[in-house]
Amino acid sequence: MGRRCWRQRVLAAACLGAALLLLCAAPRTLSPVFGNRALGSSWLGGERRSPLQKLYDLDQDPRSTLAEVHRQRRDLLSSACSRHTRRQRLLQPEDLRHVLVDDAHGLLYCYVPKVACTNWKRVLLALSGQTRGDPRAIPAHEAHAPGRLPSLADFSPAEINRRLRAYLAFLFVREPFERLASAYRNKLARPYSAAFQRRYGTRIVQRLRPHALPDARARGHDVRFAEFLAYLLDPRTRRDEPFNEHWERAHALCHPCRLRYDIVGKFETLAEDAAFVLGLAGAPGLSFPGPPRPRGAAASRDLAVRLFRDISPFYQRRLFDLYKMDFLLFNYSTPSYLRLH
Ligand SMILES: *[C@@H]1O[C@H](CO)[C@@H](O)[C@H](O)[C@H]1NC(C)=O
Repeated sequence: MGRRCWRQRVLAAACLGAALLLLCAAPRTLSPVFGNRALGSSWLGGERRSPLQKLYDLDQDPRSTLAEVHRQRRDLLSSACSRHTRRQRLLQPEDLRHVLVDDAHGLLYCYVPKVACTNWKRVLLALSGQTRGDPRAIPAHEAHAPGRLPSLADFSPAEINRRLRAYLAFLFVREPFERLASAYRNKLARPYSAAFQRRYGTRIVQRLRPHALPDARARGHDVRFAEFLAYLLDPRTRRDEPFNEHWERAHALCHPCRLRYDIVGKFETLAEDAAFVLGLAGAPGLSFPGPPRPRGAAASRDLAVRLFRDISPFYQRRLFDLYKMDFLLFNYSTPSYLRLH
């Protein structure tokens, strides 16, 4: 499979148009030869191999169990894509806003909020040499400052396609409802997100709570999880504007059925997957910041279980439909606590 797949990518490269981003549903790009030609300068003048070439090397090596894990994830993603997606419109550069670019190493990282994206941005800043020392020391607001890391959307279609062909593309995903529970808690339930509460909380209260108290209408500080879900399921919400990135579905942010991702990292195996990517990037000195709290995984699940317990089966079902593609594409099973039938 490995070899055929890589050959397919070379063929796919032929159908990338320059004027429009014609991202054929087929996998992206690249053989090692192509990589050399496309990249030319930077590291390839010398001995160093690009991250994508290193992944290719590992893919040929039957002893690399991690490469095997990632190959299986890619295969699963691409078969889920062909099973569940219909014909889609062409991507425009603006659709690639979330894909961050590291030209020095040849990396593309699509960030999904609530999936360690602050730490990934910190690491990319450290990789790009914009800051020295421990990535942990970079303040969060600095990591998120617009323009600190270039986005693929800022390039011309030809420049975009060149990078799509030659760079290692990766994203990190998370169990969709745990991610959603985390977004609710951090942005709407916690007092420190006053800005989010003013922007979204007030809207939710005004729309969904007929007899809201003036204080709640003005501050939006006490939105319940059920109200948040009702807001997500309200057709008016997405008619007015796209979902905020913290609760937008990962597939809608990163377009994994049209861009070829070489690595699908998971929040559930963050340390291991991050180390794999950093190894390919050739940054052995750099370690991915560890989780702030030890019991991360269990706590994340407990929160989702607790929040969904009070949600009616009717809403659970509709919400599952809304997030279903993220479950399918990234191999997350239906949470056992849901009452879907
Ligand atoms: C998909 O999930 C199942 C169940 O958790 C697991 O056994 C399997 O290895 C996963 N497949 C991939 C490709 O990750």
